Amino acid sequence: MNARIASVGAHVPARRMHNNELAQIVDTSDEWIYSHTGIHYRHLAAEDEAASDLAVPAARQAMERAGVGPEEIDLVLVATSTPDYVGLPSTACVVQDKLGIPAAGAMDVMAACTGFIYGLETARTYVTAGAARNVLLVGTEVYSKIVNWEDRRTCVLFGDGAGAVVVQPAADDAPSRILPALLGSRGSGADSLYRSHGGTRNQYVPGQTPEADLKLKMDGRRVYNFAVSTVVETIRRLLERNDLEFDAVDWVVPHQANERIIAAAAKRAGWDRERFYVNIAEYANTSAASIPIALNEMFEGGHLSPGRLLVTVGFGSGLTYGGNLLYW
Ligand code: UT7
Repeated sequence: MNARIASVGAHVPARRMHNNELAQIVDTSDEWIYSHTGIHYRHLAAEDEAASDLAVPAARQAMERAGVGPEEIDLVLVATSTPDYVGLPSTACVVQDKLGIPAAGAMDVMAACTGFIYGLETARTYVTAGAARNVLLVGTEVYSKIVNWEDRRTCVLFGDGAGAVVVQPAADDAPSRILPALLGSRGSGADSLYRSHGGTRNQYVPGQTPEADLKLKMDGRRVYNFAVSTVVETIRRLLERNDLEFDAVDWVVPHQANERIIAAAAKRAGWDRERFYVNIAEYANTSAASIPIALNEMFEGGHLSPGRLLVTVGFGSGLTYGGNLLYW
């Protein structure tokens, strides 16, 4: 049995912030941010909006488009590194309850910006093993609540949003199917993108732990170099494994972290940059939500028809990396 993406949906918060507004908060400029990243805007969650609140409308849209009701979902997967609660319960349980899904397994997938790719592979394996018929996978993030708004090296890069897909069984002769993913991890780079305090390694001590240590910290250059090389290697290995040339690919849907990373990877490998779908100008880096938000935009823009060959590719904290190969 094969698995396929049956539908997609997305939701971003209403509040939209331009780079010029950020320049009033930290020492930066529209010129610097756009020229170094390709970002113009990001959408930001309201004070009372958490990851599950963004996930629910995205999930509803995907379920409606698939014609699947809450009682038909057997597994809820939420890819997030900005969960509603610290560690427990999982955001997937909150989403399951809010959607009125009666009796499904629910769990979070934590692979940071590679979370949607890991989640899609988890969904594929459940479906192809016959262990689930309708898997709801949501990538949802509110990085605005974990970035340090005094650190211009990180706060300008991220945005909030959610994207969702329903994964279902596909007939062997159907044009749509997901092929096995490539997933990887390089834990030696854990401290290049992380929140150093607040977990069980370095506990939060009231009055002692500086607030900045509870927020996201990043060694931008290290992550940049890792990202460019893993984007190239992941796509190459996925194609080689399936005896495919880059020319066969209709769209690469990369994690939207920095347009320069995408351009540098395409240039290094000699691949047509136009085949890489990029929408970072509007949303900035929404981590595990960036790929499903892009897929939703592509779907609504008429770029996806059955049988189109797509490669997703991502990288992020962990350090993690990976890619899915699928026929839409
Ligand atoms: O999902 C994965 C998440 N992370 C990533 O993908 C990030 C990967 N890394 C990157 O995308 C890039 O490294 C950045 C966009 C984060 C930074 O670009 P860069 O070209 O590597 O800049 P840099 O860190 O080498 O900094 C160059 C200069 C520095 O000034 P000095 O020391 O040369 O005087 C920074 O202080 O740019 C300065 N700078 C800024 N200036 C204005 C850093 N951030 C800003 C800013 N506005 N927002």
